[in-house]
Amino acid sequence: MERYRSAAALIAARRPDKPVLALRPHAAGRAARWFARNFEGDIAYAYKANSSVFLIGALYGAGIRHFDVASLPEIEDAATIPDAELHFMHPVKARSAIRRAYQLGVRSFSLDSEDELQKIIDETSGPDGSARDLQLYVRVAVPAINSLIPLEHKFGIAGEPATRLLVKTRQVAAELGITFHVGSQTTTPDAYVHALKAVRELIVHAGVVLDRLDVGGGFPSRYANSEPAPMDAFMKAIREGIEQLPVREDVRLMCEPGRSLVSEAESLIVRVDARRGRHLYINDGAYGTLFDAAHLGFVYPSRLVSRAVDADASMSAFELWGPTCDSIDHMPGPFLLPACIAEGDYIEIGNVGAYGRALAGHFNGYGTYEEVILLDEPQMTMYEAEVAQAAGGSVHKLRQ
Ligand SMILES: Cc1ncc(COP(=O)(O)O)c(C=O)c1O
Repeated sequence: MERYRSAAALIAARRPDKPVLALRPHAAGRAARWFARNFEGDIAYAYKANSSVFLIGALYGAGIRHFDVASLPEIEDAATIPDAELHFMHPVKARSAIRRAYQLGVRSFSLDSEDELQKIIDETSGPDGSARDLQLYVRVAVPAINSLIPLEHKFGIAGEPATRLLVKTRQVAAELGITFHVGSQTTTPDAYVHALKAVRELIVHAGVVLDRLDVGGGFPSRYANSEPAPMDAFMKAIREGIEQLPVREDVRLMCEPGRSLVSEAESLIVRVDARRGRHLYINDGAYGTLFDAAHLGFVYPSRLVSRAVDADASMSAFELWGPTCDSIDHMPGPFLLPACIAEGDYIEIGNVGAYGRALAGHFNGYGTYEEVILLDEPQMTMYEAEVAQAAGGSVHKLRQ
């Protein structure tokens, strides 16, 4: 894989015809090390966020051995990672997927119904009907608070049915866990505070001893239109919430970050194929890496990388249009770029590492990319102190 100092260095060297996925594995490694220092439990990377082997390699190098997987193809892939512990955390699984996952060594499953519990028992155990070698996590429903992608209406169990399911699961599982997901790109820690309160009430009502607690994913990244609380605040809220739980002192903790580990580790470099006023027509879009910009209002940080402009050059707000013939292929932004931007220029669209390439398809013949590695830092980071340290300077210096 080619390596460049920056996106600008790539475009100075050559002008790629295809859009470019530009990886920063060092940013994924940095994020994983941050979690390892600040979270007292297993860090299970949500494999669905980005399965580039370069990023998985960086996470592995930083000590990640646990992976949250949601489908059989992900499991078949991730099972090849040495010493990987896989957690099949999709609450609704095909029987064949449960069976094959078990054959591949998966012993950790989530569920949010008695039907799913029965499926898991049927497909992983003998006729005695037990699941004595399994870690089973009951997925509880928690409210989404300040999350850009709430996940609350699809999965999760609450109230009396949750109490019953916890007791039933306790009776058959080797280890009982609770899991929840507060929603992706959750920008304030109060979602975790509320979730852990709900967990506390459930444990008290069910009267069960918990072996494991998984606080899920949802930790944020920075975008041009999303400025979350600092990561420390999330960890503090989680620590304090867990201290209030009636659980064993040695309860095993886990989290499942996707976005916060890989968002900063990939940029998209696109070419402007036409300019019409404040509208730029580029060579990737909603059916490619920019799905979330088109459909969920994400505004990724962006910068012109094909020529230098003065620091005080005037900036304009642009909308972006993707390469297909479809008018849904539209990223309203606004993306702030130099007012002089023109056809033939290249733009680096940053922090697309989470759910960018993972969502890209091939509609209209598009969807193939070049890939390179970049050695510089992302345009926006949640890990400012660490980036500043790597640069040998202070956070203040970095922000200037
Ligand atoms: C079960 C589960 N765990 C973890 C994640 C990762 O979430 P995030 O990328 O917001 O950290 C998801 C995302 O949908 C999920 O469904």
